[in-house]
Amino acid sequence: MAKIINGKEVSEKIRLRIAEEVKDLAAKGIVPGLAVILVGDDPASQVYVRNKKRACEQAGIYSESYELPGNTSQEELLALIDKLNNDPKINGILAQLPLPSHIDEETVINRISPDKDVDAFHPVNVGKIMIGNYDFLPCTPAGVMALLAESGVDCAGKECVVVGRSNIVGKPQAMLLLHNHGTVTICHSRTKNLAEVTRRADILIAAVGKPDFITAEMVKPGAVVIDVGINRKADGKLTGDVDFASVEPVASYITPVPGGVGPMTITMLLQNTLKSAKKANNIS
Ligand code: GUN
Repeated sequence: MAKIINGKEVSEKIRLRIAEEVKDLAAKGIVPGLAVILVGDDPASQVYVRNKKRACEQAGIYSESYELPGNTSQEELLALIDKLNNDPKINGILAQLPLPSHIDEETVINRISPDKDVDAFHPVNVGKIMIGNYDFLPCTPAGVMALLAESGVDCAGKECVVVGRSNIVGKPQAMLLLHNHGTVTICHSRTKNLAEVTRRADILIAAVGKPDFITAEMVKPGAVVIDVGINRKADGKLTGDVDFASVEPVASYITPVPGGVGPMTITMLLQNTLKSAKKANNIS
């Protein structure tokens, strides 16, 4: 029987800490500000944006949300980003992905000032993460690391296997595990004998985007299993990338979906926005 890592609980604890710090800043006349941009009407993205807005309010962080129609041109979006880059009230800018297909994601990401890039997607920030000298950590991988730390899981010397190689999760996740002295393997759709590799993992991170993809046969007994997936089943229920029912009895620790990594992502976004506001005001 695995210990369930409660992301909601850990998240609430960190958000309280953030709210305290935001209050201290407010006493100095500083209010961190986040701008969230959504283009189009993807229902899942609408939910994420709404949750981000609510989390800001609860933490005392000022937020602006821009919900733009799906036919917004790339030029209009870039003009908004330029405006926000120059707005001193705004410390963090997030363009919710995916963007509509007529907009080039890379161009948009590159336009956000690296100083306000609270997603840590800009090449400057990606490069800083690579060399281990970073301002912002990408929210989901940072959330995973915080969950491991809060659960007392030490990565040093452990076999860490990341399944998935996206720029948002898989690649930065591998780098953070490496910074924490893990021995890291990244698996993907072309990996041969995947189960053989995942069974080596002391710490297994699933970020594939396929419902219930990781089954018990792919998990070493006693492994720590972190599920980054958020997939919606035909019945509307959320499920992760890990087949929780079969893996839970094998693992030592496991994150549920929902209530695992999900809440941590927004918490890390708040943390990055706070960090950015402090940096903009020369507060360490
Ligand atoms: N879409 C799904 N996850 C994310 C994220 O962390 N940041 C942004 N900007 N878009 C996303």
